[in-house]
Amino acid sequence: MGKESASDERASLKLLAAQRAVELVESGMTLGLGSGTTATFWIKLLGEKVRKQELKIRAIASSEDSERLGREYGIPFVNFEECKSLDLTVDGADEIAPKLALIKGGGGKLLREKIVASASKRFVIVGDESKQVERLGRFPLPVEVIPMAAPLVTNSLSELGFTPAIRMKPDGRRYITDEGNLILDCSGLLIDDPAAMAAKLDSIVGVVEHGLFLGMADLALIATPDKIIERTV
Ligand code: 5RP
Repeated sequence: MGKESASDERASLKLLAAQRAVELVESGMTLGLGSGTTATFWIKLLGEKVRKQELKIRAIASSEDSERLGREYGIPFVNFEECKSLDLTVDGADEIAPKLALIKGGGGKLLREKIVASASKRFVIVGDESKQVERLGRFPLPVEVIPMAAPLVTNSLSELGFTPAIRMKPDGRRYITDEGNLILDCSGLLIDDPAAMAAKLDSIVGVVEHGLFLGMADLALIATPDKIIERTV
């Protein structure tokens, strides 16, 4: 299959997963809106229902992009002052391993994504089958860092066995997160024990958050050409 048709196929699988996730939504819910191409499908599908007044929801988004998109459809937004917990959050992932251990943050939104997921009664992952892995780490693990600490954190991550690289934008400038931080994309290490690695990353001063999402997801809806696989922990 050519490159273009493979990515078309992945996009249609992402759409199928997003469609299934829409079935989990009921009027009156407060939702967490994830980020990335799969979550974008979900937001657009929800938005169309809101526009047609088929669905009444409120939302908190995990990125400025997702909030902007939701507002275009007329989805009303709240904040954590007004609403302390979310009924359901749907988001994508970069890798989905056994026990629904995830790598997220390929789109650079991991900090808000983790905040939104942590406030959710139900956290559902949507993705195509290419996201499934036996071991995390082939996808470079994104680590959000305070800019001043980036050289120090780079050393610490190298000592753990990673090859960290500051994320750059296509225009050659550094990628800056919604919170004004940098992302170090950490490649070169398959993660045998995600919980132990998360604890090590949490202990590095200057790390704001990392893309290991462990014990957070309740369900993964994974689209294959034949069916949607429902994976629970
Ligand atoms: C953004 C994310 C995304 O959910 C993740 O990168 C998956 O993206 P996509 O749905 O485009 O494959 O974590 O920070």
